[in-house]
Order: sequence, then C-alpha cells, then structure tokens
Amino acid sequence: MTAKIKDIDACVFDAYGTLFDVNAAAAHCRDALGDKADELSAIWRLRQLEYTWLRSLMDEYVEFWKVTGDGLDYAMASLGIEDAALRERLMDIYMRLDAYPEVKGVLTTLKAGGLKTAILSNGSPKMLNSAVENAGINDVLDDTFSVESVGIYKPHPSVYQMAVDGLSVEAGRICFMSSNAWDAAAAANFGFRVVWVNRFGQPQERIPGDPEQVIKSLDGLPPLLGL
Ligand code: LAC
Repeated sequence: MTAKIKDIDACVFDAYGTLFDVNAAAAHCRDALGDKADELSAIWRLRQLEYTWLRSLMDEYVEFWKVTGDGLDYAMASLGIEDAALRERLMDIYMRLDAYPEVKGVLTTLKAGGLKTAILSNGSPKMLNSAVENAGINDVLDDTFSVESVGIYKPHPSVYQMAVDGLSVEAGRICFMSSNAWDAAAAANFGFRVVWVNRFGQPQERIPGDPEQVIKSLDGLPPLLGL
C-alpha cells in the first residue's frame, strides 16, 4: 500500500478521547444518571480541559486526577446532582476507562510495521498505567509520557517536546494522533506530522496548526502509513 505519510519513525497518541473513551464513565452509570448522562459527560470533559488551560495560565499545576475530579464536581453541581457514591463510582471508572475497540489491533499493526509507539497525555502516570493495563496494550507501547514530568498541560510546547526527547526521534518523523482538534492543531504547530482522529465530527479549531490528514477512527491510520 502506498503511504500518504512517509518517513515516520514513531506514532504518538493522545490518550483521553483518542485511545480511551472519555464518555465511558457516564455511559456505565446511565442507570443512575438517566437522561442526564450525556450532558454530564460533556460538561465534565469540557470543564476538565478548561481547568487544565486555566491552571496552566495561572501557574497552578495540579495532577490530572485532581483536575478531573474538579471538573466532575462542577458538572454534577451544574446539573443539581448531589450523590457522593455516584461521584466515587464515576471517578473509579475514569481510572480504568474503556479503550476504543480498534486500539489494540492498530497498535499491534504499527509495532509489526517497525514503528515506535507511545502515549503523550495530560493524564497522571497512575491514570495512564491503569488505563493501559485495563486495555491490555502494554506490550504494544514503547513509552508513556505524562505532563507530570513538565508540570504544565497541553498545548504547551514543552509537553510535545517530551516525545521528541524521550523517543530520540525528531518532530518531523513523529506522527501524532489526537481526537481533540485543539491538541491536533497545537501538535502540528509544534512540528509533528498530525492525523486528527475526528471521532466526534467536530469542525476544525481556529488556532494555529493544520493536521495533514483527518480520519474517523484509528482504523484509518495504518493505510495512511502504508501498513
Ligand atoms: C490527553 C487529553 C488532552 O490525554 O485528552 O492529553
């Protein structure tokens, strides 16, 4: 198969929303959340991300687990849900979120094709290790990079630089995948070759950086790389 993206040595993946299903926690608690499940999930995710950006600007880094809990507290309060047991259940599921169904197969294909593979994420090491273990993808990943090492969140360039340094692969030979349009744009602006996994059919962000390819799920990645 002819590759559209050539001269790549490593594939680096965003975690939440790209490998792991951020809506899985609310979906698993649909029994308790009822018709508020989808709205809670959307507010939770948006506030979680906004708090990473706000804290980065404020120079007030705390680990992603705390930010995730704060985002959930805001989401529950905004929907008038007061239920400590439900909060604990949602957070417990978030610690070991489901991987999207194609993830393991795609990572296996990339490794068999001789590429390095890694995660580059806002997640704390504990969260990422737990999700990786739950998905059974440890064997098909060379590295997991967490913002914990640099103490600031995406899209700060020092986060993307971690993959360059950690893998010893220059930015232009790293193919980066994210379902988060802002992360895809920022990674392209940094210098990665970027494939935006537009799982949610979102419009492109109006910030610097253009992903060079757009796919709907990670199934579309190996053919782009000629695998
Ligand atoms: C991450 C968030 C951005 O995993 O999804 O870094």
